[in-house]
Amino acid sequence: SDAKPATVSDQADFDPPQDERDGGAAQAGGAAGAGGNIESHLHENRSFPPPEAFSQSAHIKSEAEYQALWNRAKDDPEGFWGETALELLTWDTDFAAVKRGEMPDTEWFVGGKLNATVQCLDRHLDGPRKNKAAIVWEGEPGDVRTLTYLQLHREVCKFANVLRGLGVEQGDRVTLYMPMIPELAIAMLACARIGAVHSIIFGGFSADAVADRNNDAGAKVIVTADGGWRRGKEIPLKAAVDDALAKSPTVKKCVVVRRTGGEVTMAPDRDLWWHELMADASADCPAVPLDSEHPLFILYTSGSTGKPKGVRHGTAGYLLGAQLTTKWVFDLKEEDTYWCTADIGWITGHSYIVYGPLANGATTVMYEGAPNWPDPGRFWELVEKHRVNVFYTAPTAVRAFIKWGDEWPAQYDLSSLRLLGSVGEPINPEAWVWYHEKIGGGRCPIVDTWWQTETGGIMISPLPGVTPTKPGSCTFPLPGVVPKIVNEQGEEVPDGEGGLLVMTQPWPHMLRTLHGDHERFKEVYFGKFPGIYFAGDGARKDKDGYYWVMGRVDDVINVSGHRLSTMEVESALVSHDAVAEAAVVGFPHELKGEGICCFVTPKGEPEDPEALQKELIQHVRSQIGALATPDQIRFAAALPKTRSGKIMRRLLRDIAAGRETTGDTSTLEDYTAMASLRQEAS
Ligand code: PRX
Repeated sequence: SDAKPATVSDQADFDPPQDERDGGAAQAGGAAGAGGNIESHLHENRSFPPPEAFSQSAHIKSEAEYQALWNRAKDDPEGFWGETALELLTWDTDFAAVKRGEMPDTEWFVGGKLNATVQCLDRHLDGPRKNKAAIVWEGEPGDVRTLTYLQLHREVCKFANVLRGLGVEQGDRVTLYMPMIPELAIAMLACARIGAVHSIIFGGFSADAVADRNNDAGAKVIVTADGGWRRGKEIPLKAAVDDALAKSPTVKKCVVVRRTGGEVTMAPDRDLWWHELMADASADCPAVPLDSEHPLFILYTSGSTGKPKGVRHGTAGYLLGAQLTTKWVFDLKEEDTYWCTADIGWITGHSYIVYGPLANGATTVMYEGAPNWPDPGRFWELVEKHRVNVFYTAPTAVRAFIKWGDEWPAQYDLSSLRLLGSVGEPINPEAWVWYHEKIGGGRCPIVDTWWQTETGGIMISPLPGVTPTKPGSCTFPLPGVVPKIVNEQGEEVPDGEGGLLVMTQPWPHMLRTLHGDHERFKEVYFGKFPGIYFAGDGARKDKDGYYWVMGRVDDVINVSGHRLSTMEVESALVSHDAVAEAAVVGFPHELKGEGICCFVTPKGEPEDPEALQKELIQHVRSQIGALATPDQIRFAAALPKTRSGKIMRRLLRDIAAGRETTGDTSTLEDYTAMASLRQEAS
């Protein structure tokens, strides 16, 4: 019953990060140098101090200044956060208390009222920022649109009125399933303006995934587009929404942006064109003052079970975190052009394309398409053309750029860049050094930012004017962040030893709950160590106090910087008629960081194993989305289990990573080999 592992590499070209909408996958390669390979990090001791000129003009200029802030925030969190919130946020009603309660149920800025769009838009309209570019957008085909703060404000007010006209009220959930076009940012902010809660679903998720999220959120309205451009092809979003809405009874209206001009079916009474609604909408829409704790958005992310978690963020705390960390970590200056290459469908795009930059009155670049279309120089062409100063991307992208060749960035003028960022997974030192030299010209500090959907904003990161960086380390916690590395008993481990990363103090931008499941929220994040936030990552601190994050310690894998639950993929597989049992593990992947390896026990001998592999890959894509495309499907007559019947994932991870005891993988696929391995392992 064994067959060669299927790789999808022969079906699709390479897809770098944030790029799984059309579902290609990388060539399965060797593990050397892949993200998450902590062994290579342990020997890293190069250090890169910030250039002096950079420090002189930075928001935080010195080690001493950082230390003083950090100590203050640790010893007097209420004083620190209270002052920061008064300084940075525009309040309709001042808060009465900085903080109420401890983790898990902490409230911040209690009694205060504000509106996120006042913070991101209105307050910039009284001065010289009124006509400053808020969003510089470029479509994949090269079409460019710039929205000034005044123009963006107007569009947001109009769409807020449109939503109201569709029956959206304060607290209602609105799903946004859209390409990377300005209307996505407009729709987010329009929700925030009237106190509706947006739930954005990355365009790489399938119709089934959209339906699941619609239902879990109880969404009333969905906003989408006919399609989006991806490597010259149209991604038909509206068609997926049609399928999703057949299974989403709560969704009553669907607004469709015309982006590609592709053919769509419009259901009478349900589907409405964005441009038609906007043509008649009033631009007068006062922002609704909302409680500090009013939910701003839900964002689904993968946990260690098969069911995605609706991470819910509040208004004041989240905004404060997004604004402050953007200012500190990206050291934004009034004249900067800032580009974060993430998709807004992920938390990185929420905090660092939309809320953080706009709250700072910055110019944020938004790009619709793939990094390698029409050629692998596309990002650098954009940097040159828009004179980007601060650039934020993911390690998996950097590894792809390395693979595509130095000649691509070399063709463009990248001298406008002054700061580079990395996020999503551990960056391997080789990629770090390449990024520093080939993109940053050796002069730009790199901020390797550790954080999560749940943390709302950056937690551990260099400050670009302060921190001497070590390639592969996210360095030190920001002020207000008090991490610890502990063992299973919750005791702090000595420096140099690996352990679990936890947060011992609450912070304003942390998640408030999991939508509809507060018990699960308490269990997942605070169940292991009561009163302490458990991040799900393993980490160590070196002798200089630098943090090195090693990756997830749960059943979550990180594929091209995207979080996926192995259980989610397993549930998708076992929902196929031909599958009796499945176990999914990650394995080190040269470009993606981790690849997806599926061990499958079919119901009976498959007649055509190769055809079944292809079918299962397709099945997972339709259940979850292209971003979950398995790299390998391996058939086995049985899965190795402990005496109590638990699947031995560690063993499967070894096999998937090629760490097997015999050289021949194919023999490992059969039952006897598995059985003998089981004996060895137990
Ligand atoms: O494992 C860590 C990894 O990404 C996880 C969070 O994923 P997500 O919620 O999708 O958010 C990604 C963008 C913030 C973390 O638990 N991770 C994120 N950034 C880093 C990282 N691992 C190492 N270094 C990082 N800089």
